[in-house]
Amino acid sequence: LLIGMPEMRHSSLVVVANRLPIDDSAAPDGACEWRRSPGGLVSALHPLLRHTPATWVGWAGGTGAAPTLPDVDGVRLRAVPLTAEDQRDHYEGFANSTLWPLYHDAVEQPEHHRRWWEAYQRVNRRFAEAAADVAEPGAVVWVQDYHLHLVPGLLRGMRPDLRIGFFLHVPFPPPELFMQLPRRAELLRGMLGADLIGFQRVQAAHNFAQLVAKVLNLPATDRRIGVGERVVRIGAFPVSIDTAEMAALAARPDVAARAQRLRQDLGRPERVILSVDRMDYTKGIEQRLKAYSELLASGHVKVRDTVLVQVAVPSRERVGQYQILRERVEREVGRINGEFGRVGEPAIHYLTQPFDRAELAALYRVADVMAVTPLRDGMNLVAKEYVAARVDDTGALLLSEFAGTAAELSQAYLVNPHDLEGLKEGLLAALRAAPADVSRRMRAMRAHLHEHDIRAWARSYLSALDETGPLVQRMVAA
Ligand code: ADP
Ligand code: G6P
Repeated sequence: LLIGMPEMRHSSLVVVANRLPIDDSAAPDGACEWRRSPGGLVSALHPLLRHTPATWVGWAGGTGAAPTLPDVDGVRLRAVPLTAEDQRDHYEGFANSTLWPLYHDAVEQPEHHRRWWEAYQRVNRRFAEAAADVAEPGAVVWVQDYHLHLVPGLLRGMRPDLRIGFFLHVPFPPPELFMQLPRRAELLRGMLGADLIGFQRVQAAHNFAQLVAKVLNLPATDRRIGVGERVVRIGAFPVSIDTAEMAALAARPDVAARAQRLRQDLGRPERVILSVDRMDYTKGIEQRLKAYSELLASGHVKVRDTVLVQVAVPSRERVGQYQILRERVEREVGRINGEFGRVGEPAIHYLTQPFDRAELAALYRVADVMAVTPLRDGMNLVAKEYVAARVDDTGALLLSEFAGTAAELSQAYLVNPHDLEGLKEGLLAALRAAPADVSRRMRAMRAHLHEHDIRAWARSYLSALDETGPLVQRMVAA
């Protein structure tokens, strides 16, 4: 009814996430493209929200005034501004230097600063206000991820008419770890403002219920929590990908041709191993490089027969731990290439660029072994994208037991990335596996993803949130 007057429109579905799905560099001239930048959250929500009458509230990157953004593929975008201080203390600080490492088994030391907590509260309030502003009466507001734990509680205070969902894309840690947080009670209370809290894994919901009982003294099971008069439901909803879209992309003749060309450019090796990660210390990149280097040193793997392609796109580049990681990874790649490469034949092809979906699909098609070996990962959509792209049922997935994906793709070659010998054995097993075994596993994994795609995820989450609302039918009709 109010088309053309964005500031006056309200939505029946509002998604609130720290990141907006668009590339901010493309926005000023109006030629706005979906961002599809590295990151599971945007990858999951993008295919879902396209052509849905929803509003996505989030940060457009950068600091200063919030840009006014055009609709993208039918989705309205509402930018929330961050100051330089907010970016430092909320995004880089509390979100990515306190919560992110703590939630990922503290594989790097979480830091605690009172200033960061102030910023976290302030920024959460700003997101809640923006969501309250665009939500129509009785709307569904779906809050995403660890940057915004306080938004459900704040929003409920502002707009009791709303139906509020919260979904955590990252792991929710065991009580011993979460208890370290100085503001643990506030964080739990913030999440409990939601009607439904979704996690990737059953264990996470269990951890949450235990914590709520212990810290807030509320009656809690792994499915329901009593908060005064209200009942908050919790549960596991493993996120997924647009399986059909990735399969169709991978099957495109130009993508197949590109994959062939890539193999040629790689020197026609017998075996291509691929890894695609954000440059993040949770991804186990250093452990993987060490395993590969030892296999080269022992002669189990030979350059020319086998190449490793490591895509590692830089992430959170102003955070010290990420800078240190990048330096270490690049030093190690240089060392391995120096020691084992030959002229025109590097042992590792190392790429830090963002790629478009077609190029990623071509890379997946060329990979005989996909090595996804994070130390801890909420889900890991790269592993699912690889499986979806293997339309001819070939290709071995080497997968960490500590990725959420492992609970679903149990036919992968599973490894413990902390166990260097186990990692080497797993890599060799995947490289040498009999084609029949590889196909059998791949077929089973593809069948699983065919059923459990991103629409199935949205359907199960949103129907749990709003059993009878028209919203669910509209969103997951396709
Ligand atoms: P995380 O959410 O921790 O980044 P996921 O594996 O769940 O990990 O999601 C990463 C997403 O980012 C995937 O959809 C993947 O395709 C995408 N991605 C990773 N590297 C690149 C890259 N170099 N260029 C474009 N997209 C990338
Ligand atoms: C993970 C997080 C997302 C985040 C993404 C990329 O997937 O769960 O919330 O958006 O990483 O990280 P970034 O810091 O660039 O948003």
